[in-house]
Amino acid sequence: MRLVFLGPPGAGKGTQAKDVAQKLGVPHIATGDMFRAQVSGGTELGKRVKAIMDSGQLVPDELVLEVVEARLVEDDARQGFLLDGFPRTGPQAEGLDGILDKQGVSLDHVVYFDLTDEVVINRLSGRRSCPECGEPYHIEFKISKDSKTCDRCKGVDLIQREDDKPETVKSRLDVYKKQTAELIDYYESKGLLRRLAADGRVEEVRRGLFELLGIK
Ligand code: AP5
Repeated sequence: MRLVFLGPPGAGKGTQAKDVAQKLGVPHIATGDMFRAQVSGGTELGKRVKAIMDSGQLVPDELVLEVVEARLVEDDARQGFLLDGFPRTGPQAEGLDGILDKQGVSLDHVVYFDLTDEVVINRLSGRRSCPECGEPYHIEFKISKDSKTCDRCKGVDLIQREDDKPETVKSRLDVYKKQTAELIDYYESKGLLRRLAADGRVEEVRRGLFELLGIK
């Protein structure tokens, strides 16, 4: 299955994507995680994108498309993938169409995580993340076993992402509305959009998502 998860920052895309990708046996490809790995590795690409990400703006389309295209030709993505946080602009969506055309394949579903700004702000302001594996936690809704370190990466302290600070959360939501929300219509007109009520508890959202995708 070839899937895209679309929705505002903090909608819960990453939280749900891991389970879905595992169930379907496809790679979870999250552009935010890929760029954060470059930043923490101190690579040239990481140095170019760090300030952009910290301010909540988008990385330039050409750069994002280059990174995604290179990832989609890897062996594990040939039979399917779950794209999380990409595409995020009209040119990225068209670029993805071009990449898939070249491969002779197409998307099956674009899942739109539908929820209010209020819920988004609440989720982002309480999020804590593992700097090693990217696993998202929440100070109220998803607490790690000792409430300080990652359950998977033993001993690694959870952090608040730079772009989850209150002043940046607002600009990320503005960027989403100006540059990404138009993709809802884009995919609706292609008959690919599946709306998911995403403001419930993690388990409720998961149930809705599995039902929508026909996952047992
Ligand atoms: P990215 O990492 O993609 O950030 P995002 O889309 O803003 O998404 P998030 O990871 O913040 O949220 P999410 O929807 O995955 O929510 P999560 O599951 O963590 O991008 C970061 C930056 O990288 C961008 O700003 C940009 O600079 C750059 N970038 C990345 N991709 C790009 C692209 N394609 N083009 C250009 N630039 C790009 O959940 C959030 C919180 O809520 C967590 O604490 C979680 O525990 C909690 N939670 C989740 N679900 C629930 C629930 N149902 N109930 C209660 N709490 C919940």
